Amino acid sequence: MTAMPKTPRSNIVALPVSTASAHRLGYIGRVPTSKARDADSWFTPPEYLDSVRAVMGGIDLDPFTSETANEIVGAKRILTVEQSAFDEDWKAGPRGRVFMNPPYSAGLCARAVNRFIDQWEARQFGEGVVLVNNATDTRWFNVLVARCTRICFTHHRISFWNADRKHISGNTRGQAFFYFGRNADKFARIFGKHGFVVTPVGEAGPA
Ligand SMILES: C[S@@+](CC[C@H](N)C(=O)[O-])C[C@H]1O[C@@H](n2cnc3c(N)ncnc32)[C@H](O)[C@@H]1O
Repeated sequence: MTAMPKTPRSNIVALPVSTASAHRLGYIGRVPTSKARDADSWFTPPEYLDSVRAVMGGIDLDPFTSETANEIVGAKRILTVEQSAFDEDWKAGPRGRVFMNPPYSAGLCARAVNRFIDQWEARQFGEGVVLVNNATDTRWFNVLVARCTRICFTHHRISFWNADRKHISGNTRGQAFFYFGRNADKFARIFGKHGFVVTPVGEAGPA
């Protein structure tokens, strides 16, 4: 079996994952909230999911989703508002592949990132892709930077879908895909078409 990647890397300072600080630093201009809003349900368009599947070979778990969203994502197992990703163990196994596009509200996004890192470090899955806004000045973004192996910054704003599979207008940010796992070079090759891919070096930290 291939060895698990070591996290965090030695050249990146791992930040403490504190719920208090994560709540404090969310998306700019948004008031942190623990309630799901409509913008928490923007679905990932298929072309990006094709790339996620091409890198990992499939998606075993989508921890933040709904039955409707999973008609597009096609994860083998899902967690939802009812069966919350904050309460359930992710248990995807050492080779389990996770795709996470968390709710966008500041408080929920930060909590989701904390949860993802907790589960990653507890070896509840072996490979993952995280899709979030490119909020490089937030603590939660830097928590991801400190532990991932590659990042793709999209050269555009993703035109997310609603439940009717129509494009949603009003996305005011670019996005970033974080890769966790042993296929970092494959991720770089495949995600190069969506933006520029970087390997984090140096110090990750809050602005
Ligand atoms: C941005 S959408 C992403 C949906 C899907 N993963 C995708 O990429 O198309 C976030 C989803 O998380 C769900 N959600 C909100 N809170 C959750 C929780 N505590 N546990 C699991 N899912 C949750 C929302 O209902 C919503 O469907």
